Amino acid sequence: MPDITNSIKHVASPLARQTLLDGDLTRPVAGVRPIRLLPWLQVVKIGGRSIMDRGRDAILPIVDELRKILPEHRLLILTGAGIRARHLYGVGLDLGLPVGSLAPLAASEAGQNGHILASLLAPEGVSYVEHPTIANQLAIHLSAARAVVGSAFPPYHHHEFPGSRLPTHRADTGAFLLADALGAAGLTIVEDVDGVYSADPNGPDAAQAQLIRETSAADLIKSSGTLPVDRAMLDVMANARHIERVQVVNGLVPGRLTAALRGEHVGTIIRSGAHPA
Ligand SMILES: Nc1ncnc2c1ncn2[C@@H]1O[C@H](COP(=O)(O)OP(=O)(O)O)[C@@H](O)[C@H]1O
Ligand SMILES: [Mg+2]
Repeated sequence: MPDITNSIKHVASPLARQTLLDGDLTRPVAGVRPIRLLPWLQVVKIGGRSIMDRGRDAILPIVDELRKILPEHRLLILTGAGIRARHLYGVGLDLGLPVGSLAPLAASEAGQNGHILASLLAPEGVSYVEHPTIANQLAIHLSAARAVVGSAFPPYHHHEFPGSRLPTHRADTGAFLLADALGAAGLTIVEDVDGVYSADPNGPDAAQAQLIRETSAADLIKSSGTLPVDRAMLDVMANARHIERVQVVNGLVPGRLTAALRGEHVGTIIRSGAHPA
């Protein structure tokens, strides 16, 4: 509150006289758990390569399942990028483009996939919304409709970290960041495999690949093999504030997404670092 003395205005702030880098000083003020903005929201991330690239055979059953589950849940449906982003990466890398130029190109495909999905769900009142709308007007949109569709890609764009030639913050990371920031009830990641395996179930070691029913982000980070989710998402999960677990499910098996949204264990559960309040 402004404190006016002798016409000099002082704005009281508990952080005014300290460096923001000293954890001991900031913790009493900044160490509290943030509020949940949309505690009833379920976030669903639909894979670009695993689902959208397969076309109608994979997309129409998912759309049907989403349509049927709308009376039960209010959804933020986020789409990832697939084969077109890979083509863009190939052309861009060949030309020497920096990672900050590649990230928005890939993000544009995630958006295209979102537009496709939203068009199919339009009869249910579902629309595609851009990032600024997700940031500022999601509540009003979800008061008017049971679900909206957006791009799962986080808008690092030209600020993408230069550690790798390919963008590290991709759709799974973006979906988790949003779900945690919104304090959503859950995040389900839809793939074309039953969950996370000990090795790629479609790779050279498929015969040895075993489904991991439950694990933690901290344990998955230690594995050196390939994963069906972004590694950057696992890093973010270590510092999660609300989302305690993510479930990776097979969207090619009818009913799995519905069961996951109903709280059933039908894929791989990855626990984060967040603890219940
Ligand atoms: N450890 C693993 N467990 C499960 N799937 C894996 C693993 N490693 C690689 N994959 C592969 O990841 C594929 C999904 O690819 P991904 O790039 O995640 O698709 P999307 O763009 O839809 O998220 C699966 O079909 C599977 O072959
Ligand atoms: Mg994936």
